[in-house]
Amino acid sequence: MTRIVYVNGAYKRYAEAAIHAEDRGFQFADAVYEVIEVLGGRLVDATRHMARLDRSLSELTIAPPMSKQALLHVIGEVVHRNRVSDGIVYMQVTRGAGPRDFSLPGPEIPPTLVVLARAQRRGWADELAKTGIAVKTMPDNRWGRCDIKTVMLLPAVLAKDAGRRDGAREVWFVDDVGVVTEGASSNAWIVTAEGVLVTRQLDSRILPGITRASVTDVAASEHLKVEERPFTVKEALQAREAFLTSATNTVMPIVTIDGKQIGEGRPGPIVQRLRSRFHQVAEISAV
Ligand code: PDD
Repeated sequence: MTRIVYVNGAYKRYAEAAIHAEDRGFQFADAVYEVIEVLGGRLVDATRHMARLDRSLSELTIAPPMSKQALLHVIGEVVHRNRVSDGIVYMQVTRGAGPRDFSLPGPEIPPTLVVLARAQRRGWADELAKTGIAVKTMPDNRWGRCDIKTVMLLPAVLAKDAGRRDGAREVWFVDDVGVVTEGASSNAWIVTAEGVLVTRQLDSRILPGITRASVTDVAASEHLKVEERPFTVKEALQAREAFLTSATNTVMPIVTIDGKQIGEGRPGPIVQRLRSRFHQVAEISAV
């Protein structure tokens, strides 16, 4: 349970943790965020997450709310005050609050910062990974700058809801020519018949996933070849294995796409290896 939330300089009780009615994050989705995994009270891949937060802020010209070091201190406080051992830290920075105006405000409006931590039952993802999950494909109807981690998540929310109603835990977005871009809240991967890992190249259509980057490190340590290139739904259906990566799932096997079985229809050896090695390779740091 989340007890304490950091909001703009104060540690507030959960029920009282609120932002202004005219916050630009609320009115315009004028905001960016990060989700970091907490494992045994420590942060997974904090350096990469903080670097991506910096990039998201600078792409939108939102001023950093505080130094990286101060933010890490706040994250540590929030993790400790909520006694989170395993779970996640969520942080969101908006362009701040002021009379609703499409024009960007000047520097007199300070950004809003929210930091929240939530415990999750240890092993929930391991249980899911034993059987693997189903995904459903849907047209990618998001904006053209998916490389920025904004809170503009309505297309993902609606897609995931439609997927859930069809028994799919994740949605894979597909562009106009049948190429898979990424998951609604994860990056998409397949393993070819030759055992090569394939994931889309980084461009404005996908988020540069932190777990994606660390899985590339895991693959290198296992001497597995990674190809960053587009792949179609057709190619995915013929893949030997498929999986997704995200901070909340790390590496999650996918066993069906649109109801069609991938490979043997159960988690394959490569995805299981990547999953079991992930936390040995990713950066784990104390807070
Ligand atoms: N989602 N692509 C999208 C669209 C995402 O929302 C996410 C993460 C990823 C994976 O990125 P990372 O490996 O850095 O978590 C890819 C987070 C977990 C969320 O919104 O909860």
